[in-house]
Amino acid sequence: MENKMELHWENVYNKKNENEVSWYQKVPNISLEHIKSLNLNLNSKIIDIGAGESRLVDNLLDLGFKNIDVLDISKKSIEKAQNRLGLKSSMINWIVSDINDFKPKKKYDLWHDRAAFHFLKDPIQISNYVDLANSSLNNNGKIVLGTFSIDGPLKCSGLEVSRYNEKSVRDVFDKHFTLLNHQLSNHPTPFNTTQEFLFSVLSKK
Ligand SMILES: C[S@@+](CC[C@H](N)C(=O)[O-])C[C@H]1O[C@@H](n2cnc3c(N)ncnc32)[C@H](O)[C@@H]1O
Repeated sequence: MENKMELHWENVYNKKNENEVSWYQKVPNISLEHIKSLNLNLNSKIIDIGAGESRLVDNLLDLGFKNIDVLDISKKSIEKAQNRLGLKSSMINWIVSDINDFKPKKKYDLWHDRAAFHFLKDPIQISNYVDLANSSLNNNGKIVLGTFSIDGPLKCSGLEVSRYNEKSVRDVFDKHFTLLNHQLSNHPTPFNTTQEFLFSVLSKK
């Protein structure tokens, strides 16, 4: 039985082309810069949470990473990413799941999330997400997290979001993570507007 959020996202990916959504990036440069700065081994286990059609996975394959999982609530978005990658899609472990119900089968070294976590508004779901990231990561595991900043939009894809600053990211993740680095960045949307993101790099305590 599909939940309301599943229906919302299936509808988005059924109706819109890749570059017709506000979050589209030809190359996810900021995420890639933060990931490269971590100097991960190419065998590192990586998961992209709420990846949608993001081209991060293409870039991670090009960098030589071999253990990549891609998760999204929308089956359609996963199918579109698989079609784009063609034969290379068999190198990826694809997961269709609501992050709130995700039961990982392995431990990861890197947890990447750009603009999925910020849809969580319920403090219990937010806290569960932080616990899940912690229990899913190996010792020394890292999170690269992109959310709307405190000056970013109130909504994304028509849904209300939680906006973050350095202090609130630190506070929300403090139970299990140390904030290593943070950076504001302006995302130019395909509609000639900009959205301020906060990128945070967190390390498991
Ligand atoms: C704004 S888009 C960002 C997509 C991608 N991370 C990027 O940067 O291009 C948000 C994505 O999160 C997914 N998503 C939203 N809520 C989710 C949830 N509860 N569990 C898993 N994925 C979710 C959506 O389907 C969508 O692909």
